Amino acid sequence: MAADIPENPTDEGDLKRSLGPWHLISLGIGCIIGAGIFVLTGHAAAGYAGPGVVISFAIAGLGCLFAGLCYSEYASMIPVAGSAYTYTYATMGRLLAWIIGWNLVLEYLAAASTVAVGWSGYFNNFLASIGLPVPAAFASAPVALTGFHTIAATGTWFNLPAVAIIGLITWVLIVGVKTSANFNNAMVVIKLTIVLVVIFACFSYIVPANHTPFIPPNTGEVGHFGWTGVFRATGVIFFSYIGFDAVSVAAQEAKNPQRDIPLGMLGSLLICTVLYMLMSYVLTGIAPYQTLNVPHPVSAAVEALPGTRWLAPFVNVGAIVGLASVVLVLLLAQSRVFYAMSRDGLIPPAFSRVHPKFATPWKGNIVTGLFAALLAGLLPLDILGELVSIGTLAAFTIVCVGVMVLRVRMPHVKRPFRTPFVWVTAPLGIFMCLFMMAFLPMDTWLRLAVWTAIGLVVYFLYSAKHAHPPRYLIGTLSMGPVGPAE
Ligand code: ALA
Repeated sequence: MAADIPENPTDEGDLKRSLGPWHLISLGIGCIIGAGIFVLTGHAAAGYAGPGVVISFAIAGLGCLFAGLCYSEYASMIPVAGSAYTYTYATMGRLLAWIIGWNLVLEYLAAASTVAVGWSGYFNNFLASIGLPVPAAFASAPVALTGFHTIAATGTWFNLPAVAIIGLITWVLIVGVKTSANFNNAMVVIKLTIVLVVIFACFSYIVPANHTPFIPPNTGEVGHFGWTGVFRATGVIFFSYIGFDAVSVAAQEAKNPQRDIPLGMLGSLLICTVLYMLMSYVLTGIAPYQTLNVPHPVSAAVEALPGTRWLAPFVNVGAIVGLASVVLVLLLAQSRVFYAMSRDGLIPPAFSRVHPKFATPWKGNIVTGLFAALLAGLLPLDILGELVSIGTLAAFTIVCVGVMVLRVRMPHVKRPFRTPFVWVTAPLGIFMCLFMMAFLPMDTWLRLAVWTAIGLVVYFLYSAKHAHPPRYLIGTLSMGPVGPAE
């Protein structure tokens, strides 16, 4: 996220304009590269698209580009904490803001759980490689997707390492952490190095037969290989790009937002798209795609070949460090969204109480951590990842609509960043997001419907009764909060 995130969220108005385009690109890459490429690629290739997952990465990258350009305009108009939730409350009313905030919980909280499960896969593999395996009963979730979207018990208890990493990071967030530019840069260097080394070291080991046919024929079921499989995989691996919106959230810290935010976003998206396409090309080239549906597909693929086996420990360590940092950023982002919703009265005030010593919203962090740990401990990565993707895509769709609505309703408000060709870009963003959602499995849609229904119940039983007016309104923005502070 931001180069120096204030530990005390009440500092949100005092951020310095210190970030140039390279900082922003690095920020984006730091948040983007995580469980998506290290884990979900294997799941998407094995379950839906085969080597065609390379095409899925290109399509998802394009969709993110359109949505991201809209997100940036929103972010630059209301440069405060709370992300799309805050923008929507200030512009389109409480109910839509609630829906978007509720979906952002899927984006950040459930994504943190997803990445924690990915982290656990690599951590377990690492411990096993040094002769200290985690007992099977505590190494993975008690349920798994079997066959084509049916759920079965695995006989295990819960995913202990995933719970442990969430607990550790929650503690770090409570006692306060400065996510400094240097820390982020170090993470980016580690992740990029691992990805580049895997790509270059493995390229000469690609077996053309593994890439033939590039898109395995459809099995007769929609989304199960063939082009519909490629499209379904697009919705699944969309998860890999989540985090690029963090670049737009840094709009108030950019030296020159109009130029640098799109540069940061486009730059990080472009770099990650190319790396993702190359990495998935290499992975499906060195290993048959059917073998990649494991918790640690990258190290499993390099371990399977004598010539690349030496890479496995580096991949494990890089993934363990890199994925932990993504969990941290996602949980931090979640606590900011809860903080903003709580300040508006939509969720209980405990979520915005700041610790007297650490100056962090500690109660919110604990509740967030408990929920994230519960999800990470009990659910497998594929179910979580698809839920995150659909929730985030729904939130992005509303953002694309919102940008057009505001161009009509509030044409004169200052926009430090304007979406280029908004009447083309925003509809394309909506189309791409809906397209990716449309191909996700029906049970993921059902889970989204259940999630939304729970959200509406909470809204009408609690939020609608306790809400304050929005603290920020377009046009009064420079004057700061307009509603009650608590
Ligand atoms: N894009 C992030 C990841 O893949 C969330 O882990």
